[in-house]
Amino acid sequence: MSKKVSMAVIRRLPKYHRYLADLLDKEVYRISSKELSEIIGFTASQIRQDLNNFGGFGQQGYGYNVEELYNELSKILGLDKSYNTIILGAGNLGQALANYSGFRRSGFKVKALFDINPRLVGIKIQDLEVMDVEKMEEFIKKEDITIAVICTPKEKAQESANKLIEYGIKGIWNFAPMDITVPENIKVEEVNLSESLYVLSYMLNDGLM
Ligand code: NAI
Repeated sequence: MSKKVSMAVIRRLPKYHRYLADLLDKEVYRISSKELSEIIGFTASQIRQDLNNFGGFGQQGYGYNVEELYNELSKILGLDKSYNTIILGAGNLGQALANYSGFRRSGFKVKALFDINPRLVGIKIQDLEVMDVEKMEEFIKKEDITIAVICTPKEKAQESANKLIEYGIKGIWNFAPMDITVPENIKVEEVNLSESLYVLSYMLNDGLM
């Protein structure tokens, strides 16, 4: 994609994608920009502006063709491809993520978990094996792994990221509560549930000061 699209826009795309998937499930194939704005909660002009970044969709007087827009957004988000993925750290969170089948359905194919704990090495989560981190380099190269999910303690996150990058990982989904530093060609998405929870806490307490 040549044009630089702002991260604020990109962060709204998965929401459009999700609502469009729901509409398709309900067999809604055409929707006016007003109806779409009502269900998503963004103004029609916001939606138009966002989509215009990618060439614009929808027609005056017709609205949006749901399937076409869904397919285009899938392509824009790279969800028309599949990504071989591993999870590093097979504790509570790593296992919970491995147990979730939704990632697989959207093209993120978790191939294995890795851990340093010998008591975890060898067990299976669903059909996935927990492997020794010592085997990680070979596995990443052999299985053409693109994405790694970091679920280690935060003290281990940066050194884990360094190793993953050295072994050829291109994208890191980091759950450890510390921002990791990576070279420019490596993409990182930090996830922090506590930050979201604190926003809820703020909203509950807003006006109490
Ligand atoms: P846990 O202690 O159950 O699991 C951590 C696992 O990482 C253990 O099995 C441990 O043996 C393994 N490990 C340690 N060093 C390693 C290394 N160098 N390489 C590979 N594996 C290694 O912890 P839990 O509850 O699963 O949390 C994992 C991480 O996720 C923590 O950093 C925690 O703070 C974070 N977390 C983040 C959330 C978020 O919203 N981003 C939510 C919950 C947890």
